[in-house]
Amino acid sequence: MDLKPGSSLWVEVEDLSPQGLGVANVDTQTVWVRQALPGDKVQAVVTRRRLGRIEARLLKVEQPSPHRVLPLCRHFGPCGGCALQHMDYPTQIAWKQRMLKATFEEALPGLPLPDIRVVPMTSPWHHRAKMEFTFGQQANGIVLGLHRRGSFERIVDIDCCEIAPHAVSALLKALKDHVNRSGLEAYRPKDHRGFWRYAIVRSSYSKGELMLLLVTQDGPRSAVEALVDPIFQAVPELKSFYWGIATKVSDVADVQMFTLLRGTGMLEDEVAGIRFHVGPIQFVQPNVKLAHPLYETIRTEVQLSGKEAIYDLYCGIGLIALALASKAKWVCGVESVSENVRLAEMNAKLNGASNTTFVWGKVEDLLKKSTLFKLGPAPDVIVLDPPRAGLHPDAYAPLLKTCAPTILYLSCNPTSLARDLKVLLERDPKYRLQTVHLFDFFPHTPHAEVLAVLRRG
Ligand SMILES: C[S@@+](CC[C@H](N)C(=O)[O-])C[C@H]1O[C@@H](n2cnc3c(N)ncnc32)[C@H](O)[C@@H]1O
Repeated sequence: MDLKPGSSLWVEVEDLSPQGLGVANVDTQTVWVRQALPGDKVQAVVTRRRLGRIEARLLKVEQPSPHRVLPLCRHFGPCGGCALQHMDYPTQIAWKQRMLKATFEEALPGLPLPDIRVVPMTSPWHHRAKMEFTFGQQANGIVLGLHRRGSFERIVDIDCCEIAPHAVSALLKALKDHVNRSGLEAYRPKDHRGFWRYAIVRSSYSKGELMLLLVTQDGPRSAVEALVDPIFQAVPELKSFYWGIATKVSDVADVQMFTLLRGTGMLEDEVAGIRFHVGPIQFVQPNVKLAHPLYETIRTEVQLSGKEAIYDLYCGIGLIALALASKAKWVCGVESVSENVRLAEMNAKLNGASNTTFVWGKVEDLLKKSTLFKLGPAPDVIVLDPPRAGLHPDAYAPLLKTCAPTILYLSCNPTSLARDLKVLLERDPKYRLQTVHLFDFFPHTPHAEVLAVLRRG
């Protein structure tokens, strides 16, 4: 069959790609159909053929998969936020578990894998701790929402986001009303003109309080200040209003400067007994409902007696370090952003954790110089929680040289996690992969948070 762009075809979907697209085989060719599920019989039209990859758009579901459900969100489809709302939640979980197992099996062939312990959400909605919305200019005014799937500049106007906490929808509506009365236009990446760029909203875990960072091009402060009173009035959960300026051409917020206009500079929060302060740009675990079981699982996995030295590498504002400090002898956190180190120190004081030290620097640099593990006792536990790219290659050898009895590796990217585990396990065969936990931090997307526990015996 000649599958050119524009060709219409009927297919039975057999599988789901790692990106969440339905996969069908037609003769010897593979076709990817967005929003199609294994078990669906669908009509689709070929939209693109590139490098042997055939992509098709769903036209009609002739016979639905038994796992197909009605998406809760009215923006599902065009919105780039969720890809799997049409799949029932237990099937999403089972699929993520299979995908993770397959990723590990591919990277670590022949290695006996432990069962993957899954921590799903009880109700997989209204869970995102931080959301970044983008303003867009349309013929009838300014819209505010998420990027259209696959588009750099087109924005889906969102009035209610089902993965954001409820109060966020009221904030979006109030912002949209008021920027539309400002006389200023939304930023357009195409010609780098316009003023309103992003609304970054953080929600606290414990009280559902909101912090807003409203990001614009460089321009009149008075236009942003005019929004402060009406937005606070419209959204009682709002506790903090920052103005940020981003001047670079980019489709993600790269905020060069920000100023507090009203309210508290930090949200005060608590999770799993850890009290902390967080500002508008720091990282905290992105699921307000599963952060608690994550920190509890970390505590259970390390089984501290009070004599241990722990190194929390890539520590952010120190929450893993502080989750463990009360049962450890000494905890050292390492973080490359100096403001995060300052907050980690402040959070340690808030929790009375005087047995903690936070070090500013890049993990790989400190490891390479062999200075890190001389700061205190040899590590009994090393916790790794790097960004998506995983460990720097310079980190492997110094980490292994410590012979730490336990390494906990937390990751939002199973591919880089599996790559790093392969190196660690191959270079020191005394380590074994004892436990793998999958936390469903990102329901309705193909993503997951994974905690791998290595023990040296
Ligand atoms: C996934 S977050 C970890 C957050 C923390 N463990 C928590 O539970 O809140 C990764 C952190 O690593 C920091 N980071 C990124 N690259 C780094 C590097 N090369 N060395 C040290 N820290 C780094 C980032 O600033 C960020 O705070």
